[in-house]
Amino acid sequence: MTTGWTWRYDGYDPERERLVEALCTLGNGRFATRGSAPECDAGVLHYPGTYLAGCYDRRTSAVAGRRVENEDLVNLPNWTLLRYRCLPDDGPPGDWLTPDSEYLRHHDVQVDLQGGVLTRSVLFRDARGRGLRVGHTRIVHMGDSHLAAQLTLFRAYGWSGAVEVESAVDGTVTNSGVERYRHLEQHHLTQHRAGFDPGGVAWLTCRTADPGIGIAMAVRTVTRPVRPAREAATSTGTVQTYHLPIGPGRSVTVVKTLALRASTDRPAGDPLTAARDDLDRAPAFPGLLATHRAAWQRLWEQGELDVPGEAGRVLRLHLFHLLQTLSPHTVELDVGVPARGLHGEAYRGHVFWDELFVLPYLSLHFPEVARSLLMYRHRRLPAARDAARRAGGTGAMYPWQSASSGREETQELHLNPRSGRWLPDLSRLQRHVGSAVAYNVWRYAQTTGDLGFLHSAGAEILLEVARHWAGSAAFDPELGRYRIRGVVGPDEYHDAYPDATTPGIDDNAYTNVTAAWVLARGIDLLGELPDSRRTELAERLSLDDGEPDRWEDVSRRLHVPFHQGVVSQFEGYGHLAELDWDTYRARYGDIRRLDRILEAEGDTVNRYQASKQADTLMLGYLFRPDELAALFARLGYRLDDDVWRSTVAYHLSRTSHGSTLSSLVHGWVLARQKGADAWRYCEEALLADVADVQGGTTGEGIHLGAMAGTLDLVERGFTGLEAGPDGLRVAPVPLAQIPRFAFTLCFHGHRGVRVRMLPGRLAVRVPPSTQDPLIIVLPGERRFTVPPGQERWFRL
Ligand code: BGC
Repeated sequence: MTTGWTWRYDGYDPERERLVEALCTLGNGRFATRGSAPECDAGVLHYPGTYLAGCYDRRTSAVAGRRVENEDLVNLPNWTLLRYRCLPDDGPPGDWLTPDSEYLRHHDVQVDLQGGVLTRSVLFRDARGRGLRVGHTRIVHMGDSHLAAQLTLFRAYGWSGAVEVESAVDGTVTNSGVERYRHLEQHHLTQHRAGFDPGGVAWLTCRTADPGIGIAMAVRTVTRPVRPAREAATSTGTVQTYHLPIGPGRSVTVVKTLALRASTDRPAGDPLTAARDDLDRAPAFPGLLATHRAAWQRLWEQGELDVPGEAGRVLRLHLFHLLQTLSPHTVELDVGVPARGLHGEAYRGHVFWDELFVLPYLSLHFPEVARSLLMYRHRRLPAARDAARRAGGTGAMYPWQSASSGREETQELHLNPRSGRWLPDLSRLQRHVGSAVAYNVWRYAQTTGDLGFLHSAGAEILLEVARHWAGSAAFDPELGRYRIRGVVGPDEYHDAYPDATTPGIDDNAYTNVTAAWVLARGIDLLGELPDSRRTELAERLSLDDGEPDRWEDVSRRLHVPFHQGVVSQFEGYGHLAELDWDTYRARYGDIRRLDRILEAEGDTVNRYQASKQADTLMLGYLFRPDELAALFARLGYRLDDDVWRSTVAYHLSRTSHGSTLSSLVHGWVLARQKGADAWRYCEEALLADVADVQGGTTGEGIHLGAMAGTLDLVERGFTGLEAGPDGLRVAPVPLAQIPRFAFTLCFHGHRGVRVRMLPGRLAVRVPPSTQDPLIIVLPGERRFTVPPGQERWFRL
């Protein structure tokens, strides 16, 4: 299906088309366009979509007798549309042609990952043997983030005449890419205006409904030497019609160049004027292609992760999509990590805790991008404080789903497509998201050495999250411990005790241990801040003198439940019924979404020891076994190797892997403990999107956390790499299936450090600079230095 740097789909399979569109999406971090066929409007088979990072719109819908608000990443007008048909000299006009035409003879789609170029080649041949070959080449410019272009080349075989081409910009698009959301309001664009400028330029402006972001698209269509036969603007779009003479040996090209602007752009200005100016400046297609490829070349150098073989090819695709969602252009924007990329409408473009899996890679390769994503959270600290206050708490309570304002965007009701019932969505009780934000702050600072950030915005986030945990923990005199009650853990299936009238579960081990970690880091951070900064922060946050003592106490006495010698997912988990996994697998085959299956049966997953994804075991993703043992010891519990191994085995066998994050985390945890099954889970994480293992979800948008997480699994997981103030620590846990690989990282001011892992050996090359030598720490506290301009080899 795919070779080296090319990702390819041969043949046309309508069933697969949405997956192809998602995996062939092109983007530049500012906006992305799905890899849809230019000939087709949105329908059952095709779903064109263009999404601008951070462009959300809030609408109210009536579902199940209630009015619910949702904020969606808006599908913008379709700029790619190009319809065509043959006008042979010797016969009547042919049909409008699409991949669904009966005359289709050949179809292939491929993405050149190196250059960020999508090509679709199509061949039609009618009953009389008249052939038309059509090749589309598309880019979304990685250098100039406002531009995209699409070149279409027509060749005729066995006939002469003309091709009638309609080049359109369609503003009637809606957000209708996810079947489950069909009952919700889908119209986000209003106040359309459209028209033409001289030189083949069509323009369309519109606004989102709320908050009213102005959008302008200017599209220049060039097909030399022909001018449009007709130009028609409707209230929602434009169509330019061309009659292009064609015949054997006489091919025709049509180039559409898009400039996309929004009223949120900086510097501020009229979006249409800016889009017109962009188009005026834009060179012809070959020039655009050259600068676009050059920008990609730079990204691949900085982002390098070179793994041989099939795994390496999939990892390259993952990296490609990560960099199309979050690129150096992201630094200029106020955006977070959209869980499903800019590739589709699932989860409405919302930001969850998935940055936990994305920031480690970015911090090592694109630290400025990682920092800007943390600043997205910092700008929403006031909203998180308000949320904490409204919930009767203190500090900052980050929302489970975040979008534009930072308020809670988790839907109130969700549809179980199996039963057709709308159910309360309690996933917003996943308060652990706050710890993920704080953890990311700390990890970013360790990796980059960016103390400027840690001591300012970073400290505000971390301390406010710590404060929130201290306020949320209530002392239980009977237990002699603090408890955090009424939450939901990463598992998501368990959102209440069976037959309970109140939502949430108590003492989620992952929530409590990570909260204890945040509190301990908060205390450390206060201790290490320069005096003046500490005073300033204490004033700014109104920290009172007694707070750190309370943090210390809570961080040592949070309750972590155990049962049968293993860490319990939450208090009472061990009393839940055991599920008959074999029967359910035999009955349903795929039981990843066990929650939906059981609800449709009139049962509830809340009754069973069955988890959607890693919950307790997430601790083994965030912390090395020795760190975890120390964290538990600080809490007064013993977590030795045996207890942890039993805990891993216990929970792994009770997990349905209903999220793509599940195999990633389990692969990581098992690799760390050299578990026999590690590769099975890593492989499943690699296949998550390319094989659409969650059954149809990839077409609705990629799973960015899982994609980025696989890159990090190789770079940090298999090398045991930890970037910290005392140097780069490496403690490899190699997997036989990936014995050698190389990557390039940034570390504490060093840029372009190249790490090569080979069986039993490691090479580190530090590029020439005026920096101090790089310190490498190998297992057994063996310390070495690598001066700038040198490469050193180490035996492992
Ligand atoms: C997972 C969450 C994740 C979300 C967005 C859900 O299916 O359970 O952990 O944050 O998807 O990727």
